[in-house]
Amino acid sequence: MSDSVSPLNDPSASGKPSPNREQWSSRLVFVLAATGSAVGLGNIWKFPYITGEFGGGAFVLIYLICIASIGIPIMMAEIMLGRRGRHDPVTTMKKLAKESGHSRSWGLLGWMGVISGFLILSYYSVIAGWAMAYVPRMAAGTFVGLDAQAVNSVFSNLVSNPETLIAWHTLFLFMTMVVVAKGVRGGLEKAVTYLMPMLFLLLVILIFYAMGTGHFSEGLSYLFNPDFSKITTEGVLSAMGHAFFTLSLGMGAIMVYGSYLPAHTSIAKASILVAVMDTLVALLAGMIIFPIVFANALEPGAGPGLIFKTLPLAFGQMDYGTLFGTLFFILLVFAAWTSSISLIEPAITWGMKTFQISRIKTSVISGILVWFMGLFTVFSFNLASDVTISSVISTQYGEFVILKDATAFDFLDYLTSNIMLPLGGLMIAIYAGWLMKQEYSREELSVGSFWFPIWSILVRYVAPIMVIIVFLNAMGVVAFVRSIMGV
Ligand code: PHE
Repeated sequence: MSDSVSPLNDPSASGKPSPNREQWSSRLVFVLAATGSAVGLGNIWKFPYITGEFGGGAFVLIYLICIASIGIPIMMAEIMLGRRGRHDPVTTMKKLAKESGHSRSWGLLGWMGVISGFLILSYYSVIAGWAMAYVPRMAAGTFVGLDAQAVNSVFSNLVSNPETLIAWHTLFLFMTMVVVAKGVRGGLEKAVTYLMPMLFLLLVILIFYAMGTGHFSEGLSYLFNPDFSKITTEGVLSAMGHAFFTLSLGMGAIMVYGSYLPAHTSIAKASILVAVMDTLVALLAGMIIFPIVFANALEPGAGPGLIFKTLPLAFGQMDYGTLFGTLFFILLVFAAWTSSISLIEPAITWGMKTFQISRIKTSVISGILVWFMGLFTVFSFNLASDVTISSVISTQYGEFVILKDATAFDFLDYLTSNIMLPLGGLMIAIYAGWLMKQEYSREELSVGSFWFPIWSILVRYVAPIMVIIVFLNAMGVVAFVRSIMGV
């Protein structure tokens, strides 16, 4: 099926449920694409540093519990809605709501997803640009023999230079939009078929490298030996929030990917496989990073700079560090690339349908809009780094800080990760668990009489309650209630 004749690229065909709508060519390709979406900066950049901040093993354990109890059931729900709707997230939700006799304003859920993906991509592209900027630096041996201060200044020189950041942001976004413009078969599918196996290969090579550091077991015990005294409420809630972000849930990306899924493919098996692979990549990243951190007596809780400031230092001091450091950042760019195409796919499908324009035109327009939006993030690290907002609620029980000195980037990250994704996921769980007719969800999932009630309990009660806690925490409400109750 060529792009030009595919229903996905033909605006006249959109709007009606088309029996010829483009589909993934196999279940494997769907699993690769969804894994490509899930595995990204969240796994390789964010997971290790928040694990470091929350003290290792105990955090990892809670994160794993969250993946299983919130992540997998909501992922099944989101894929299921996508496949049954077979449209962009907005049309899908309107269509499904109508089918089950509910208000068409459920379309707002899809619409919020479109906006979330847009906003996330605007900063995701800038951070992915950092990773790209590190590839030539690594390859040129910039970090060889540098001390911590010199490595830090490479990082601050990069982020303090708006032109450089804009250049990398532009290149990354261009790469993303080219793949997206080519459509499902021509673009997304090809990209994931080649990139995902390469990603795994690079991770395996790096694991062997980490094993050779002499601190591999120290890294493992940091990740897998839970120290329960380090568990805090914030740690538990962060683990839940991260489970959300890392599986790409709550904004329609997985819904749109599900809409290309052939009927009769097991949604449960695919979801479990994707969640397992995503988790594996995060754990592999941790198993690569922490031995290197310990081998160089570095600080695991160094924060968001862990990869950009600390790893180059380690690579710069090691044999073959230039080679493995270069591979590492190439890997990070690949991982970010296959995620970024899914971040914008809901907006593309929605734009094509709403404005009746071609996939290529929609991609160009979206790319331009995201590019401008990305400037907020670019400038928040340099020219506008002192333009910040704080949101503090003062009550008789004390002060609750929601945002403190947040730059535009901090704000976008907060708005999307802490508010929009949990809200989207909550609505997906509620719709799939409570409002969609059970005969439809049974039919779509066809998991048998033993597993269906388990999924149903998870998606009706467990996941929504946990997501509500994440959401209330993000709003400062949990702290507020705790202070009132004195706990
Ligand atoms: N899951 C991706 C990551 O871990 C980020 C992402 C979020 C992608 C939401 C798509 C949708 O980096």
